[in-house]
Formats: sequence, structure tokens, C-alpha cells
Amino acid sequence: MPLCSRYAAAAFTHAGASRTELRPGTRRRQTLQPGSTVQSPHLNSVAPAAGPTADRVLRVTNLGKHYPGVLAVDRISFAVRRREVVGLLGPNGAGKTTTINMILGVLSPSTGSIRIAGIDLARQRARALAQANFSAVYATLPGNLTVAQNLRFFGLVYNVPRLRARVATLLEEFDLQALQHTKCGVLSSGEQTRVALAKAMLNHPSLLLLDEPTASLDPAAARTIRARIRALAANNSCGILWTSHNMYEVEEVCDRVLFLSRGRILLAGDPRQLPRLHGVATLEELFIRLAREPLSVHAEHAG
Ligand SMILES: Nc1ncnc2c1ncn2[C@@H]1O[C@H](COP(=O)(O)OP(=O)(O)OP(=O)(O)O)[C@@H](O)[C@H]1O
Ligand SMILES: [Mg+2]
Repeated sequence: MPLCSRYAAAAFTHAGASRTELRPGTRRRQTLQPGSTVQSPHLNSVAPAAGPTADRVLRVTNLGKHYPGVLAVDRISFAVRRREVVGLLGPNGAGKTTTINMILGVLSPSTGSIRIAGIDLARQRARALAQANFSAVYATLPGNLTVAQNLRFFGLVYNVPRLRARVATLLEEFDLQALQHTKCGVLSSGEQTRVALAKAMLNHPSLLLLDEPTASLDPAAARTIRARIRALAANNSCGILWTSHNMYEVEEVCDRVLFLSRGRILLAGDPRQLPRLHGVATLEELFIRLAREPLSVHAEHAG
């Protein structure tokens, strides 16, 4: 299984509830009720990000995943463009990691398709995954290898040309030179995150997938990592799809957010504008309402 993937920002869509097919006994993920306190004229039609189709580094269409009795992801559609940081938000169990794992080719979708940098993942898996990379708090690097050994090892996995020079560049870019001979197992959380991000950039990915990259970091380390991630999108022309439960950092980093709940996209937009559009003070308040309250609307299309 390749340890690579890409993330980026995106437009989004959700196939309507009427198209959701549940097998007998399957847990229904979403109840649509009128009169919700969270409503938006934008929910049913979210415009895709501006720009040519060739700029899309990720296109997900009707992507779904069901397990016996659980509909983890319910036919969602969205896109991510180069230089865009898109936040994939939602409460525990919403389907974020499942979505990312399908994009990474780790899980097979039950429905739908995934294109990475225009390449169909199902048809040209190796080519598509070569365009992506990822970092996740739960996918730690081998602790018995040093920082430099880890980068060389994954560089070989990704078949990175001129690997010695690439590793040297990344050690410098991520302030890892002083730690290059240190085993990853003894690094602090912040240091491990820097190594994981360096690893994720080895193959110059078009799409970078980051699953809670700042979880467990102290505020100062998290701020440094956020700045790096923004710089990665700006300077490397990659698109980033990022999950986080920290709404403050989401507002700071993300160009756009997708709210996922019970496997479905409920809302999308600019994280700095969404709270006002929905009559709440903060993104965190909006998140809590979306997570707790049934919505009167469902998203139909975007991207
Ligand atoms: N292998 C599996 N078999 C059955 N159900 C699963 C499986 N993997 C995930 N699920 C279920 O799918 C749903 C989505 O899980 P997922 O890990 O994608 O959530 P998440 O949004 O990443 O949550 P968190 O914020 O807690 O990381 C959950 O209800 C989970 O229990
Ligand atoms: Mg998760």
C-alpha cells in the first residue's frame, strides 16, 4: 500500500438524500428536518472554485463507502485545485478518514470515482498515486530509523530521482539538519510532524492529504506547521485536503471548508464567511450546530 497521497482544496457536492440507497439494516446517516436553525441558500448549490479543469488536482464524484450496517460515506462529490487548502471538517465518525483512505487507495470505494491530477485512480492506480502523498497523525514513521534514513527509505518507495539531493533539500526546508541522525522514535510530536511533512513532499505531490497534522502539537509548533502547510500550497503548486478539529486553525489556513456529517457534505464555503452567513459568531459554534442539529437542506452539487 503506498504511503502517499495528495490533498488540496476543493469544491464539493453531495448527491441528494433521495439518491441514497440503504440496504436493510443499514444505519441512516442523516435526517433531514424542516425548521433547522442552520440553513443556507448555498447548501443546495455550491459553486466550484474558479479556474480551468486542468487545475483540479482532485476530483471526487459520488464517492461512497458502506460497511455492513454502516454507511460511512454517502456519495459525496467535490474537487480540489492547485494552491488551495481545503478543510474537511466534521464530528467524530463523520467519514473524513474513510474519505481520505479511499483517495489514498487504501480503501476501495463502494460507489463513485476518484481522479488525482486528472488520472482515474481505479484505472491507473500507480500513476494516480504517484501524484499524491499524505501525512497522518496515526501513520507514524518507523521509529528505529533515523530522520535521514526514513526520508531515503520512502524516497526509494516513491522512486524519487536524485534522491540524495532531494533528501538534503527537504532536511534544510523543514529545519531537520540537526536531527537527521536522530531516530524518529525519540523525536517530539512537533519534530515528528516536520519529518512526516518532509516525507510527504518527497515526490513533489500535486495533492497532499493531511489527516489532523497538528493534533497533539503545542500552540507554537502548530503555528509553525500551519505556516509551512500554507507555504507548501503556495510554493509547490499542490492542492491540500486537510482535516482538523481546531476551528481556529481551520479559519487561518483553509481557503475553503467542507462540513461532513454522517457521511454527507452538509455545507461548504469560506470558513471566514460561513459563520456570519449562518447567523452565528464563530466557526466553532457553526460546527457544533451542524454536528448536533438535523438540517433542513441537503447539498446537491458543486465542483
Ligand atoms: N472497517 C469498518 N467497519 C465498520 N465501520 C467502519 C469501519 N471503518 C470506519 N467505520 C465507521 O465509519 C464511520 C466513519 O469513520 P471515520 O474514521 O471515517 O470518521 P472520521 O470522520 O475520520 O472521525 P474522527 O474525527 O473520529 O477521526 C464511523 O461510524 C466508523 O465507525
Ligand atoms: Mg478520522
